[in-house]
Amino acid sequence: MTQRIGIIGGSGVERPDRGFREEIVETPFGDALVWTGEGNNEDVVFVSRHGVAHDVPPHRVNYRANIMALRQLGIERVIATFAVGGIADDIPPGSAVAIDQIIDLTSGREHTFFDGGAMGLHHAPFTEPVCPALREAIVGQAPGFELPIRPAGTYICFNGPRFETAAEIRMSRLLGADVVGMTAMPEAALARELGIHYAGIAVSVNWAAGIDAAYMGALTLDFGALQAMRGKLLPLILDVLRTTDPRACGCTELGT
Ligand code: HPA
Repeated sequence: MTQRIGIIGGSGVERPDRGFREEIVETPFGDALVWTGEGNNEDVVFVSRHGVAHDVPPHRVNYRANIMALRQLGIERVIATFAVGGIADDIPPGSAVAIDQIIDLTSGREHTFFDGGAMGLHHAPFTEPVCPALREAIVGQAPGFELPIRPAGTYICFNGPRFETAAEIRMSRLLGADVVGMTAMPEAALARELGIHYAGIAVSVNWAAGIDAAYMGALTLDFGALQAMRGKLLPLILDVLRTTDPRACGCTELGT
């Protein structure tokens, strides 16, 4: 088998297409539910971040078990999807962003493998939180799938599960954030800690709180646009993971 590749599916991308079988992977951090591909997809492992029933909220996702399971399965390259709110004016619902930076405002999550236990102490460099080789490949190969994608963007990660206040989003905008979500962290950092190449595609499903002038109360999340994009998103992700050899980017050396 060729080198195995990993996909972490976020909201709206809960399960892979047909031809995958469910598997429980035991890790020192708990069990992870993964889907392993068969036939043409036997190189693919799919993690459903929120569970297939979408009943695991962002602050309760066992990020460490998910990432460790991918590592135990020998996976070195991962692309994740995120449903997000658009903060920048050019990220309306239905648009995709290959994120290149992250601001972490989460708290209370198990956010590191280097917790003073068996794995000891390590400060993983995180200046570039996303694998540059994978992100460049996403941007370069997206036109072939007729998938318009913003080539870069800063993801600000709130704890949730509530949505943000208008003032929190105004602050985020001042800090340079382009999209807001609840799950990129600690996922991206844990991948780096294990030296896994990790990139993410964020799809806007709403304007962030207070951005839309018409916004008065509840946010309207448009998962239809994300579902519609799925048919291009997953083939693009597979193509990038199968064709990119990101060895020169340094992610592996930055991990353990
Ligand atoms: N805020 C945080 N997380 C989100 C949003 C949002 O507006 N939309 C989708 N996930």
